[in-house]
Amino acid sequence: MSNILIAPSVLAADFANLQRDIEMVNNSQADWFHIDVMDGHFVPNISYGMPVIEAIKKHATKPLDVHLMIEKPERYIENFKQVGADIITVHHEATVHLHRTLRQIKDAGCKAGVVLNLSTPVSVLEDILPECYMVLLMSINPGFGGQKFEEITIDRVKKLRKMIDERGLDTLIEIDGGVNQETGQRLVESGANVLVAGSYVFGNKNPIEAIAGLKNMKK
Ligand code: DX5
Ligand code: ZN
Repeated sequence: MSNILIAPSVLAADFANLQRDIEMVNNSQADWFHIDVMDGHFVPNISYGMPVIEAIKKHATKPLDVHLMIEKPERYIENFKQVGADIITVHHEATVHLHRTLRQIKDAGCKAGVVLNLSTPVSVLEDILPECYMVLLMSINPGFGGQKFEEITIDRVKKLRKMIDERGLDTLIEIDGGVNQETGQRLVESGANVLVAGSYVFGNKNPIEAIAGLKNMKK
């Protein structure tokens, strides 16, 4: 089995059959649940919040990777921990005191990650990298599932991979947006460790197989 981690994005699940879809992920080769929280300010869409995450947590047998697309995420870190977040990622663009916010996530008992929008250079991470369990590079403009993968992501992954390796760190690189078997393969070859996939998994006739395909791709 590969060491690539797969995180199906619940945003693309059938919310009227959420328990069924969660159990599908439990029974698949996926590693985490990817949970997208949107506030209608930082991104032009609103998704779901604490009560839904709490409900997901009741059935999920795998860690919750909570991607906060909200302004000033520092206001809600403890709340997300309480409803079951295991990993919390915050956007560099959404919090002024990123260092403090990452410490807050760790103090709450979660693993801490930073997310970069497509237009934010990976070089902004130079000094903060040792504080990051993971860096999530957006490969679309955040806010909606089902968008097309942006090709500049490949170069961004390579740059970040080099920064991490040069410093001897084990920070994970996660990619979110437009991931499928073809883009996933190229991302893994470029140095990504974690693939988020929403519509590719839940829109597939056989989601279990779609997950297995991503999980078992060769480097
Ligand atoms: C979008 C979210 C993504 C989304 C990905 O802002 O962060 O996690 O669910 O969806 P797909 O895989 O369909 O591009
Ligand atoms: Zn996401």
